[in-house]
Amino acid sequence: MKKRKIKLILILTALIILIIFVAGGALYLSQKNNADESSVASEAESSLSDKESSQIVDESSSEIDSSSEVESSQEDSSDSDKEAINAFKSVSYYNDEYLERYLSYQEQNTDMPYEQVILKVNIGLDNPFYTNTYLAENYDSTVVLVNKYSYLPNDYQPADLVAISAEHSAGYQQMRKEAAEAFEKMCVDASEKGYTIKAQSTFRSYSSQYSIYNNYVSRDGAEKANTYSAQPGHSEHQTGLAVDVQGSQYDYNRFGETKENQYVLENAYKFGFIVRYTAETTSITGYMPEPWHLRYVGVQIATVIHNENITFDEYCAKYMV
Ligand code: DAL
Ligand code: ZN
Repeated sequence: MKKRKIKLILILTALIILIIFVAGGALYLSQKNNADESSVASEAESSLSDKESSQIVDESSSEIDSSSEVESSQEDSSDSDKEAINAFKSVSYYNDEYLERYLSYQEQNTDMPYEQVILKVNIGLDNPFYTNTYLAENYDSTVVLVNKYSYLPNDYQPADLVAISAEHSAGYQQMRKEAAEAFEKMCVDASEKGYTIKAQSTFRSYSSQYSIYNNYVSRDGAEKANTYSAQPGHSEHQTGLAVDVQGSQYDYNRFGETKENQYVLENAYKFGFIVRYTAETTSITGYMPEPWHLRYVGVQIATVIHNENITFDEYCAKYMV
């Protein structure tokens, strides 16, 4: 009986050990599976994040690429700006104040030589006529520049106006003393050579120019009037240094057809006068040709303008900056 009991206990013990062993194995296997699965998942995750991060890297590297493109194009443009700036600065009439305008005008006119860019901007031609206007600085000087940008004060009238002698004028005409004397000398010289030149319109006040200009606007409209008549304040006639001349045959507006016109073209500079508005310079002056409109600037400047074949606007842009 006792032997049977011991045998039973041994069998039960063996069974328990077996169960424990089997259960332990199963637990081990299940944990191992879990561990494998989670490692696969984390590998997948990590590979996803690698891919994503590589995309981000790609994107950021492409951002880097494109930003380096921008940088390089900025470098290119700043290189070309530097080249332009150096070229501008080598021009004797370069004005530091206008650098931005030079660069901008040059960008709009890439074929234009640097000197021309500077010249035009100095005149103001990077802006339409009658915009960006300014008060003439030295309006009591014989070299005052009056054009579609530069204007005289409404109440400006020269203090030294004198009448032109009756012999050399049509009606009562006044100019500044220095200009009047030079004009009479020229008329005498012309007369000695067989030509008759007379002053037909000289000094005009602001209010007189106001009436003239507005009459033309009423007749022809502002756009057309602007091609031959100055807006008040912008007329050289207000300086007392301009004179519209007539020859022996016709009224002033046909002066271009006269023999006196040829005399003026060849000789006026010797007396300090220039022909202010010519056919070649309409884009600079903004006026159609006026062979009759002479402007006194003094012999020295008139000679430079004559020899260089430039306008007074260009002269000032080159030599008075
Ligand atoms: N005719 C010229 C441009 C003037 O009006 O002053
Ligand atoms: Zn005139």
